[in-house]
Amino acid sequence: MFLQYLLPAQSGLHSFLMHNATPILLPVALVLCLALQAAAQGFVPNYDESKVPPYTLPDPLITRAGEPVRSVAAWKNKRVPEIAALFSEHVYGSFPAGPRSTRFEVLRESNQLLGGKALARQVRVYFGTTAGYMDVLLFLPAKAKKPVPVFVGLNFMGNHTVLNDPWIPLTTRWVSNNTTYHITDNRTNEGTRGVQADRWCVEMILDAGYGVATAYYGDLEPDHAEGWKTGIRTTMQPYTALKPEQWGALGAWGWGLSRMMDYLETDKNVDARKVMVMGHSRLGKAALWAAANDARFAMVISNNSGEGGAALTHRNFGETVGFITSTFPHWFVKKFSTYADDLSALPVDQHMLMALMAPRPLYVASAQEDQWADPHGEFLSAYHAGPVYALFGKTGLGTDKMPATEQPVGDFVRYHIRQGEHDVKPYDWQQYISFANKHFR
Ligand code: GCU
Repeated sequence: MFLQYLLPAQSGLHSFLMHNATPILLPVALVLCLALQAAAQGFVPNYDESKVPPYTLPDPLITRAGEPVRSVAAWKNKRVPEIAALFSEHVYGSFPAGPRSTRFEVLRESNQLLGGKALARQVRVYFGTTAGYMDVLLFLPAKAKKPVPVFVGLNFMGNHTVLNDPWIPLTTRWVSNNTTYHITDNRTNEGTRGVQADRWCVEMILDAGYGVATAYYGDLEPDHAEGWKTGIRTTMQPYTALKPEQWGALGAWGWGLSRMMDYLETDKNVDARKVMVMGHSRLGKAALWAAANDARFAMVISNNSGEGGAALTHRNFGETVGFITSTFPHWFVKKFSTYADDLSALPVDQHMLMALMAPRPLYVASAQEDQWADPHGEFLSAYHAGPVYALFGKTGLGTDKMPATEQPVGDFVRYHIRQGEHDVKPYDWQQYISFANKHFR
């Protein structure tokens, strides 16, 4: 399923695999594909913990000028802006503060979905005063008597893929070609309804008393090297005052999450003080960057976000800066690629991004078979955010020992590694729901 995201659509290998892999063979094909592509680039990923070279992480609690940060005030006033500026300059690019969205149009509403369990709304969220928009699909528990906390996240294939119901309109945007789903002209089709429903567990979330809001990431920027030309980095240029190269696709997707938040703040059925941003994989990277820039997200969940997400960049394990910036050049600012051969020069690492979430509850999740995303590196970056949570009097992970599979650890920062592959599974959602119960109920 991810093949289409991994290789440029023009590549012969991409096309061969897309036309020959059945759904059952896709995980095998994915591994093969990564290995072949890596080999083609002369890149051999390291999967041996004993071969991770030594590295030094910047201390989140020491400023660039070498001053220790000893108070919450110093953290917030000095170090947070400094770290955010470092990530902007070296990794993700600038994150435009606005324009905030203020124009929303409820396109359709129904209380018939999931046998009447769900109150569903599809809302068009316009960007500032422009004609540009994203379509947000919101599910709320029909039984709720008061505003509910909501999970919010972008989806990979269109809103109609998160639940199989003909009420949900098919996206009309550019989508990746995908032979499994017979997408050959970058337009989706009826056959893709609900194909990512397993990843969203809408019914489970509603049964637990939460809402869920999602939007298609292609509403913001099509995910390919030229996507910026038709995405918001170009169309919103006069409003963001940024040139397309001053931010990357991850920033554009993250910015969209903030626009979803603009809407959720106005929805009377939503408890806007309890909006939890969640993202998987590249959209987990985008969710983390959005939450770092937008304090309105009260809880943050990274699902298998890997390199450029939760995983420590300085560790040479699985995906690397060189690989990610050459395969997905549009995700980051160009400067990030310059660290490919000299990581020691990179003045930030992802534990500092995790630290920007403090004191908000943060969940980092890995999967055993997703070594590409470096589960141990994801754990370590959550761990190294601990001193910043401690500054707020909160316990982070509380242990430096990587837990066994499906044994979540941690308090305000929580971590688990589940069995299985790179994906979002019901097990993951069960943990996110219980984390939300713990902090919000
Ligand atoms: C690729 C990429 C990862 C990314 C993943 C995804 O595997 O190398 O960095 O997280 O795609 O988004 O599924």
